[in-house]
Amino acid sequence: MAIHCRTEITNSILSICVALIFFSSASLSEATPVGYGYTISAVTDYPLTNSLTANLNLIKPSSVYGPDIPHLSLSASFESKDRLRVRITDSKNQRWEIPQEVISRGSSSQYYPLRSLNTNQGSPQTQHSLSLTHPNSDLVFTLHNTIPFGFTVSRKSSNDVLFNAAPDPSNPQTFLVFKDQYLQLSSSLPPRRASIYGFGEHTKSSFKLQPNQTLTLWNADIPSAKLDLNLYGSHPFYLDVRSPSSDGRVKAGTTHGVLLLNSNGMDIVYGGDRITYKVIGGVFDLYFFAGSSPELVLEQYTEFIGRPAPMPYWSFGFHQCRYGYKNVTDLQGVVANYEKAHIPLEVMWTDIDYMDAFKDFTFDPINFPLDKMRSFVDTLHKNGQKYVLIVDPGINVNDTYATYVRGLKADVYIKRNGVNYLGKVWPGPVYYPDFLNPRSQDFWGGEIKLFRDLLPIDGIWLDMNELSNFITSPPIPSCNLDNPPYKINNVGDLRSINDRTVPASSLHFGNVTEYNAHNLYGLLESKVTNKALKDITGKRPFILSRSTFVSSGKFAAHWTGDNAATWNDLAYSIPAILNSGIFGIPMVGADICGFGGNTTEELCRRWIQLGAFYPFARDHSEINSIRQELYIWDSVAASARKVLGLRYRLLPYFYTLMYEAHTKGTPIARPLFFSFPEDVTTYDINSQFLLGKGVLVSPVLQSGATTVVAYFPKGSWFDLFNVSNSVNSKSGKYVTLAAPSDHINVHVGEGNILALQGEAMTTDVARRTAFELVVVISSSRSSYGQEYLDDGEAVDIAGLKDQWTLVSFYGALHNNSIFVTSKVTNGRFALDQRWIIDKVTFLGIPKHKRFSRMHLAGNELNIVNGTSSTSKAVVKSQFDSSSQFVNVQVSKLSLLIGVEFKLEIEIK
Ligand SMILES: *[C@@H]1O[C@H](CO)[C@@H](O)[C@H](O)[C@H]1NC(C)=O
Ligand SMILES: *[C@@H]1O[C@H](CO)[C@@H](O)[C@H](O)[C@H]1NC(C)=O
Ligand SMILES: *[C@@H]1O[C@H](CO)[C@@H](O)[C@H](O)[C@H]1NC(C)=O
Ligand SMILES: *[C@@H]1O[C@H](CO)[C@@H](O)[C@H](O)[C@H]1NC(C)=O
Ligand SMILES: *[C@@H]1O[C@H](CO)[C@@H](O)[C@H](O)[C@H]1NC(C)=O
Ligand SMILES: *[C@@H]1O[C@H](CO)[C@@H](O)[C@H](O)[C@H]1NC(C)=O
Ligand SMILES: *[C@@H]1O[C@H](CO)[C@@H](O)[C@H](O)[C@H]1NC(C)=O
Ligand SMILES: *[C@@H]1O[C@H](CO)[C@@H](O)[C@H](O)[C@H]1NC(C)=O
Repeated sequence: MAIHCRTEITNSILSICVALIFFSSASLSEATPVGYGYTISAVTDYPLTNSLTANLNLIKPSSVYGPDIPHLSLSASFESKDRLRVRITDSKNQRWEIPQEVISRGSSSQYYPLRSLNTNQGSPQTQHSLSLTHPNSDLVFTLHNTIPFGFTVSRKSSNDVLFNAAPDPSNPQTFLVFKDQYLQLSSSLPPRRASIYGFGEHTKSSFKLQPNQTLTLWNADIPSAKLDLNLYGSHPFYLDVRSPSSDGRVKAGTTHGVLLLNSNGMDIVYGGDRITYKVIGGVFDLYFFAGSSPELVLEQYTEFIGRPAPMPYWSFGFHQCRYGYKNVTDLQGVVANYEKAHIPLEVMWTDIDYMDAFKDFTFDPINFPLDKMRSFVDTLHKNGQKYVLIVDPGINVNDTYATYVRGLKADVYIKRNGVNYLGKVWPGPVYYPDFLNPRSQDFWGGEIKLFRDLLPIDGIWLDMNELSNFITSPPIPSCNLDNPPYKINNVGDLRSINDRTVPASSLHFGNVTEYNAHNLYGLLESKVTNKALKDITGKRPFILSRSTFVSSGKFAAHWTGDNAATWNDLAYSIPAILNSGIFGIPMVGADICGFGGNTTEELCRRWIQLGAFYPFARDHSEINSIRQELYIWDSVAASARKVLGLRYRLLPYFYTLMYEAHTKGTPIARPLFFSFPEDVTTYDINSQFLLGKGVLVSPVLQSGATTVVAYFPKGSWFDLFNVSNSVNSKSGKYVTLAAPSDHINVHVGEGNILALQGEAMTTDVARRTAFELVVVISSSRSSYGQEYLDDGEAVDIAGLKDQWTLVSFYGALHNNSIFVTSKVTNGRFALDQRWIIDKVTFLGIPKHKRFSRMHLAGNELNIVNGTSSTSKAVVKSQFDSSSQFVNVQVSKLSLLIGVEFKLEIEIK
């Protein structure tokens, strides 16, 4: 971090005062408040590290939810110009915090006190504030020496207050409360100017959070078909997108992010004008990410928590799964039927059915015998297809089961009362591996290695890792862990935190309680599994995890869990995948056609139309529902061929978006406001999303509909199924589009350049087809696109120079010519693959221009070295359906991707 360390301190803070006078309780409300807040007793600043610390003293005790911690220590520090950390904890006793080994976040700053600002002059009535700034940061941290004390985080550039934890003295709900098992902190928001997104995982009908709700974070095996309940993952992170301020100083779309890095159970109460955290343990460790665009917040957030894992190329193909496949013949039939229906199937999956009595790493000897499984997987691999299997964490307690015995010997199971905790899941009685135990890496990795030696699977699906348990063990009497004084709203009915999971009083390695580490289990399992697969295969792992936490995206993909085959669940899948992207887990999808209940032909057809554009596209159903493979209904099959056809053409685009996610953290599927932050209409959109910057997906989400009302932000947009169809939106507008039963609207916006490839039945074959460039001319800027190419499975993205190529494309209409040029980094790899562009399509040229001859600039002719020539190339132009634009297509080219070129067409 190269910053000039300097703290600006105003003179006024030197007179910061110590508040010695307690509030009289009579001035507060009748019901005993949970707490009375704290005052500042001393402040020390550390200009060399852009930080300060303050000592806080309890104003007055309250016994609600247990005794208050009397002395707290607050520290505020700029960890970089874009990241401000504010941490509040017990000044005397160490408390639970997520270990660095679980989420590594750089070494914490060293504190070198320069001068102590602890003074005794002044009176409690004098309200002083003290600000901490950083010369290059737009953020300002301010301590308010009020009674009770408060703090704010604001922007230097606009004075906009981003986080306002200055309490309202008349409302004890706004006071800082800090007890062993109850922590409360509240921030008020500017009325109507803050749009809040995040705080997952929950199924929501609206992507933007609606006021007056409690968002509970406690990982639980609750079907995602249930609205508004705590689900499989916990992400105490939100984005706050601001609307313009009346003084005009805040631009629309100015965005910051806030993370509460805390793994304990919590309720987050969102009141529209206020966010209140009610947490049952740990500390307040807040991180503010300055933005100021949504993209920048994600870049800053993932820089901190870890960038999303690279995903193998094949994982962007289409996946088929079902709980309830009967036997290997059944699996073979499904694969064959896909082929027969000419629908691309990249990855076949199997749920717990393949196991012997639901034991991990075993095969059912009757229905899924190893020899048949081997030949099945061999055949898949020969056809360029892949195979992924489920693994659950619970290890069946059974002395004849080798995995169990090895785990016992390694002593890696979670304990309670000094013995391994006995839960119950699919195989019956189970012990759960403790992934906090360093020995679990060898144990788990060893089991995966033995299993993969039997069957060369291509990826691992981690289910049930919330942890799910079919029983609720009784609490240990008077144990505050099993029965904390404050009840978070678990399952929506204040249910015990021990409900159908491992009890909170269980112990992990180092005596870490399940109470503290519960929400980390899925993350830890993903991390250990990721390392194991890397070590064993030497390839980029593909892991799908149901349970997630902050930084899970670094190790695994995610699906939205057990949804239902309903139209509502189809619609809710959009907020769900957008949220996952914001949480740094961009590889995400919902079960296509719905997991629970019986889907219908129409629903399944509309679902594959949408699902074809999820970053992760998998059809999955449960054992009691009817089959819903895409070939079952002719109309679904026809639609699947069409939409998956476009998905496969877009594979290079998806893959490059994955590269961008991995290098910058930007999600693959994004809310519209990521590209159009200045357009406040986009803040409320739940039914459309963008792939990358400029591909707009506008699905039908209602039964019986044959049109869709879609919002088009400013610009010209072209239908990717038929580029003759355009929408021209001068300043953002809703448009009613035709959406016949076999169609989904997918448009590319002006200013974008897409590199597409051909359709094929597997990603491997699609990768060997020629590229087409689609250049959408913009009236206001030059067009841009990027393409990242590598072998699709190397562990490292952009590793050794000769193993990858990155190409940037620029295009524009200029001086009576339209052109596209490329800039190539490490062209060797692309040249070795002999990848070419055989077609370039320019869209959106204003029609008053006329076109005559084509001229390929000399530069590029030399490069192509005779494989392409102006004489062979064919140029066609036509008006689009609106007659506002001319589209020009240049075909029969063979431009080498690995070589920089310029292609230009003069307009006379
Ligand atoms: C939220 O609750 C407050 C207080 O009960 C109420 O005044 C307000 O109207 C509610 N807002 C919404 C959007 O329901
Ligand atoms: C596979 O399962 C199906 C459906 O239960 C059954 O009809 C078929 O006989 C089974 N095939 C084999 C080889 O077990
Ligand atoms: C242990 O596993 C074996 C093999 O699957 C099974 O036959 C046996 O019934 C199991 N024993 C118990 C106690 O579950
Ligand atoms: C865990 O607790 C046990 C029992 O109180 C104690 O003997 C042991 O030393 C503790 N281990 C660690 C690593 O703190
Ligand atoms: C789904 O369809 C099957 C077969 O028709 C039927 O047995 C089952 O009851 C249906 N399930 C539901 C939830 O309607
Ligand atoms: C367009 O023409 C101007 C003036 O002749 C020139 O300066 C500019 O470089 C040209 N732009 C391009 C992209 O060729
Ligand atoms: C083009 O061909 C010439 C003559 O064969 C060769 O020397 C040159 O290296 C080639 N250039 C490229 C970029 O392939
Ligand atoms: C594309 O759209 C245009 C204009 O709406 C229409 O005339 C043409 O038939 C369409 N092409 C295809 C292949 O559907």
